[in-house]
Amino acid sequence: MSNKKNLTVCLTPDIFCNYNISDDSIIVVVDLLRATTVISTAFHYGIKEIMPVSDLLQAKEYLNKDNYIVAAERDALPMEGFEYGNSPFQYMNDDISGKTLVLTTTNGTKAINCAQDYHVITSCFINLNVVSDFLIHSSRDIVILCSGWKGLFNLEDSVFAGCLSEKLILSNKYQTNCDSVLASRILYNQAQGNLFDFLSDSAHRRRLKSLNIEKDTEFCLDPSIKSDIIPTLVNGKLVRD
Ligand code: MLT
Repeated sequence: MSNKKNLTVCLTPDIFCNYNISDDSIIVVVDLLRATTVISTAFHYGIKEIMPVSDLLQAKEYLNKDNYIVAAERDALPMEGFEYGNSPFQYMNDDISGKTLVLTTTNGTKAINCAQDYHVITSCFINLNVVSDFLIHSSRDIVILCSGWKGLFNLEDSVFAGCLSEKLILSNKYQTNCDSVLASRILYNQAQGNLFDFLSDSAHRRRLKSLNIEKDTEFCLDPSIKSDIIPTLVNGKLVRD
């Protein structure tokens, strides 16, 4: 009987309910462009905690509250009436230190909330190393949950899932019979070395390029910061691990 733990990749939250997930599994939510990169950037610059909310009305309740900043994005655009959007560059300053960020995005915050009954953490290239080390020593089943785009597959989250899956499988601590793990690893091995070019025709990269925010894509794919913080969902808020 193998003592290896199970590794699964779920390519979009809309099929998360089809997976048979053990209660003590760790769910790693990824929304590489850009929500989980924003989350790690904000923690790196001192945010106290992050409330991932799924709808705009809920986010609006926190506008003008002391020590709260509120960010809303839909279709990659910041929403009118909100001071913050979903660009990591908006959080690279000390103004946010010690505050609570209320964040609602098109896909990423929905994915986090869809898995809220489990042990949820978020990952991106900023905290990839600390997350993979944590998982390898966790002795828990792992589900890497890709945020996708409006219920559909997206390439960037799947490639990141392949990158993390590669590390976990090569640690010899995990086994899998999930074709999404196999597919994501193949994608990652195809993309390795030049992720930016590999994603050149991907839908979200083209969407961001059309909005003249390619610099966000460049940062998310090859961040200039690294963090040892593992954002962890506790009572509806992402806190430092
Ligand atoms: C998302 O949550 O779907 C993305 O992060 C959208 C974006 O590019 O801001």
